[in-house]
Amino acid sequence: MVNKATRPTDLLIGQDLWNIQLDANGKLKHFLTIEGLGTNILNQILDTAESFAGVNESVKKVPLLRGKTIVNLFFEASTRTRTTFELAAKRLSADVLNINISTSATSKGESLLDTLRNLEAMQCDMFIVRHANSGSAHFIANHAAPHISVLNAGDGRHAHPTQAMLDMFTIRRNKGADFGGLRVAIVGDILHSRVARSQIHALNTLNTGDVRVVAPRTLLPKDIEQMGVSVFHDLEEGIKDADVVIMLRLQKERMQGALLPSEQEYFQLYGLTEERLQSAKPDAIVMHPGPINRGVEIDSSVADGNRSVILNQVTYGIAVRMAVMSMTLSGSIGNKNTSDDKEDK
Ligand code: NCD
Repeated sequence: MVNKATRPTDLLIGQDLWNIQLDANGKLKHFLTIEGLGTNILNQILDTAESFAGVNESVKKVPLLRGKTIVNLFFEASTRTRTTFELAAKRLSADVLNINISTSATSKGESLLDTLRNLEAMQCDMFIVRHANSGSAHFIANHAAPHISVLNAGDGRHAHPTQAMLDMFTIRRNKGADFGGLRVAIVGDILHSRVARSQIHALNTLNTGDVRVVAPRTLLPKDIEQMGVSVFHDLEEGIKDADVVIMLRLQKERMQGALLPSEQEYFQLYGLTEERLQSAKPDAIVMHPGPINRGVEIDSSVADGNRSVILNQVTYGIAVRMAVMSMTLSGSIGNKNTSDDKEDK
């Protein structure tokens, strides 16, 4: 049996660095990884997002971050994450700069630190960073001016904490706030997925009853059992009686060498079809962080079917990102119970 208390030492990230996410009062200052954050902080993000979900449905804009300047610094491709961060910032009345790296001075050889210093000179307040290197958001948080908050929008294979939190929000909205009785199966390319790593940490922090990963051996990290999950190689067995099935994209851009026979063969073994989904609970929800590859990891009839909440995830991403931005920039909002955050970490 796996040990849920085990905290994996991670990739390039020094073990003591995750605490830079919290300020001296135990409040969230940067959001870089789920690791090292307590149940209270994750619930505070979800509760705050709940209050913003209403804003998104009605008035669309609140003045909370008026006068703040937020910079989207995306060194890797993105559709959903970048645009929902931008919308979230705008709905909080912040000013947003989107730096196009391919046309910025980075392409003329300017170092990352010099780019940061210039953005700081423009009195920016927050950097939202996506980068192909694991540890890049931590690096920026360590080198940015003290008043700046850094949010990780995906660093290499390491972490994608706002995606994990919007996924937790989607689960909570569909299955209720008590994760203890839930069986959640994450299926596919776990090895290359920063989303899966952050989801596993978040699910375990929220005390999910049964967290499973389902994948071929070649697409699983070696330390996977130590992350507090049970491992399956057969799809139907792995999603049996699951409440939540999370599908992942094959991240070919991160694959070195031949890890897979072919996409067709992968679909035959691990692709989610209506027939295979019968193995999960009748009211199971199907999730995917996007972009989806139809006919590779998921059949169109499932992606567009009535159990799919894939587009709801996108919608909820705005409220969750509003929550994280407001908590890191203006202290806690909608915070019901943070007095014991410190003990909880
Ligand atoms: C994911 C990512 O970029 O890590 N997508 C996302 O942020 N919505 C997953 C992926 O690219 O497959």
